[in-house]
Amino acid sequence: MSKVESYEGAIDRGLEGIVACSSAISTIHGSTLLYRGYTIEDLAEHATFEEVIHLLWRGTIPNAEELAELRTRLGANMKLPEEMRVWLVGMPVKVHPMDFLSAVVAGLTLHDPEANVIHEAATRSKATRLTARLGVIVGAYEQARKGRWPLEPDPNRSLSWNLLRGITGKAPTPQQERDFDVCLILHADHELNASAFSARVTASTLSGLYSSVLAAIGTLKGPLHGGANQAVIAMLRQIGSLDRVDRWLDDALARDEKIMGFGHRVYKDGDPRAKVLKKMSERLTSEVGRPELYRMSVRLEERMAEKKGLIPNVDFYSATVYEALGIPDDLFTAIFAASRVVGWCAHVMEQYENNRIYRPRARYVGPTEARYAESRGTGR
Ligand code: COA
Repeated sequence: MSKVESYEGAIDRGLEGIVACSSAISTIHGSTLLYRGYTIEDLAEHATFEEVIHLLWRGTIPNAEELAELRTRLGANMKLPEEMRVWLVGMPVKVHPMDFLSAVVAGLTLHDPEANVIHEAATRSKATRLTARLGVIVGAYEQARKGRWPLEPDPNRSLSWNLLRGITGKAPTPQQERDFDVCLILHADHELNASAFSARVTASTLSGLYSSVLAAIGTLKGPLHGGANQAVIAMLRQIGSLDRVDRWLDDALARDEKIMGFGHRVYKDGDPRAKVLKKMSERLTSEVGRPELYRMSVRLEERMAEKKGLIPNVDFYSATVYEALGIPDDLFTAIFAASRVVGWCAHVMEQYENNRIYRPRARYVGPTEARYAESRGTGR
């Protein structure tokens, strides 16, 4: 196939197969995902989320001193500005948590004197502030809708500890903290996914980091991207029991419905993140006395493979993992954002290093010979 033909094929097909930029941050490599050359399986087993932040932003696994410094800077930035805390409690909470997140990030923009400064040091410190705070905002939303003040973050604890505690109101056990940390690692970046692309397009106009992250949050919200994890748990609730899975799925496929948590543009033989989450889902659902959720998921996976040849993606087993960790369904996508913000920031930093504005063309298929005088008053 010639180059031109392959471009033609990508038009109106979501830019499938198009390489839009060079990146050294992460890539889908065979059947695995690499962050700066390290496999996701390796990082999920051995690293912490904070180490992965350093890796994605700086390109290296931090030494003890670098890690301590990053943790200190994150801890120091967790607390929301005082004027924001009051504003936050007055905000409507019967809204989509992702809209709440966007509104509060827009609010943070107003309180950050460096909001529109794009030199490297300012971008790095804003990345630290946003990463430290996104999880705190999710927790604040959960507390606000219960009519409570946000919990004070503990700067000496990890981001995963603070995020889980901010939502559930209870200090997580070391095992829960570690499980959640692995979830955050798995979601932190994924090469040129739709929201990272959004962030890069916005950054390419030399708009600041906040604008880029806001664009990315809006993009992640959709059910074809980050919104799928919430849809997965809704689907499992609707199915209700193991014996109803086959019938439910056959009916849904007969209606040509998309089954959430399945399929991927790039992975065709399996998403490595889903494999890690599957094991975690089995253990956690059994620990909380809900093994049926895992069994239903496995049956859906088998049946989807038989009927459609489609594989579970990262959203599929993360749904039951979050459910078992006691996280409300409608926060699943916001949690995804609290992790993916790390990748968005890495992409914005990389975009600034070698920037040229994204400005593709559209194949024009509209008319070319319309005349105003002939159309005036005709409604044509
Ligand atoms: N359920 C049922 N059929 C699916 C499907 C799903 N989850 N995902 C893809 N398909 C089918 C499509 O209907 C299409 O069939 P067709 O060729 O007969 O029309 C074919 O597989 C190709 O799918 P397409 O939507 O073109 O793939 P894509 O690369 O554009 O989209 C996703 C990838 C992930 C957006 C898509 O698989 C999807 O919508 N999945 C559900 C949402 C989800 O889990 N998103 C999270 C992504 S991490």
